Amino acid sequence: MTGQVVVAADAFSREDVEVLLGMAGEWKLLRPNRWVAIYEVDDENIGRALVAELRNAGHPAVAGPPDEARAVGWHNRNQPTPVGERAVVCFPWVESEAEIVIEIDPGVGFGTGDHPSTRLLLEELASAIRGDESVLDVGCGSGVLAIASVRFGAVCAIGIDINGAGLVAAKANARRNRVADQTEFLRTGLKEISGKYDVVVANIHDDILRSMADDLVARVAADGWLGLSGVSPGQLSRLRAAFPQIIFEEPRRMDDWNALIGRRKIE
Ligand SMILES: C[S@@+](CC[C@H](N)C(=O)[O-])C[C@H]1O[C@@H](n2cnc3c(N)ncnc32)[C@H](O)[C@@H]1O
Repeated sequence: MTGQVVVAADAFSREDVEVLLGMAGEWKLLRPNRWVAIYEVDDENIGRALVAELRNAGHPAVAGPPDEARAVGWHNRNQPTPVGERAVVCFPWVESEAEIVIEIDPGVGFGTGDHPSTRLLLEELASAIRGDESVLDVGCGSGVLAIASVRFGAVCAIGIDINGAGLVAAKANARRNRVADQTEFLRTGLKEISGKYDVVVANIHDDILRSMADDLVARVAADGWLGLSGVSPGQLSRLRAAFPQIIFEEPRRMDDWNALIGRRKIE
C-alpha cells in the first residue's frame, strides 16, 4: 500500500528536509514562515520509516492517511483546537486562519492541546491573561500551557516537569512559537522552585495536586490566581479541601473534566 509523509518546515529547514528525503517537495505556505509538504511514497512502511527519520532530525512530521478509508479519522485527529475567539492550538502541519496559531508537536510528552483538561486551562488563560504576567506551569508536558500564556501576552513562563523527554518537546515548541526567550523549561520538582507568579497552572492527577497543595499556594503572588485541572466531578470537594487558603470559583467543566480557578483569601 502506498503512503504519505506530511512534513512541516520553516524557511531554513525546508532544504534540510529535502536533503534528508533526497527529493524536492511541493511546499505550501500555511502562515508566515510555516511550510508544509506532502511526499507520496510507494510503501506505507517506507513512509513511517521516513517520518521517524525526520522526527529524529527534529522536523515535525507525520504519516499521512494511507487510504481513503482512514482519511476521515486522520483528518479528525489533525484538526485545530479552538481556544477562545482568537486562537487555536494545532500540530505544525495543520492549516488555520486563526489570529493566534499555537503550534504544538508533543513528541513523547503529554499535551497536544485537545484534551479537555488542557482546554479548560487554555480557555482560562486566553480570557484572563491581560499582559505582563509571570506564569508557572507545573507538569508542563509539551509546554502547551506555558507557551500559550506567552502567546496570549504573559511576559514570561516557566514550565516544570519530572519527565525529561517531554521537556525536549517543550523547548522545541517554544522555539517554533517564537517564545523561547520568554520561556524556560526545567526538569525539576515544585519544591525546588522559588519566587511568586501571577498565574500558577497545574493539569495533573488530583492526588498529585493534593500532595503539592502547599507548594502550589506558596508560588501564587498575593493578587495572582491558581488554576488546577485534570479533576473528575467526584474529586472536586476533596481537592478544594486541600487548598484552605484559596477561594475557588464555580468549577469550569468540559465533558467529564473539571478545573478549579481560585485566588488567595485576604488575610
Ligand atoms: C496531564 S499531563 C499535562 C501536560 C500539559 N500541562 C497539558 O495540560 O496538556 C501531566 C504532566 O505532569 C507531569 N507530572 C506528574 N507528576 C509531576 C510532579 N510531581 N511534578 C511535576 N510534574 C509532574 C507529567 O510528567 C505530565 O507531563
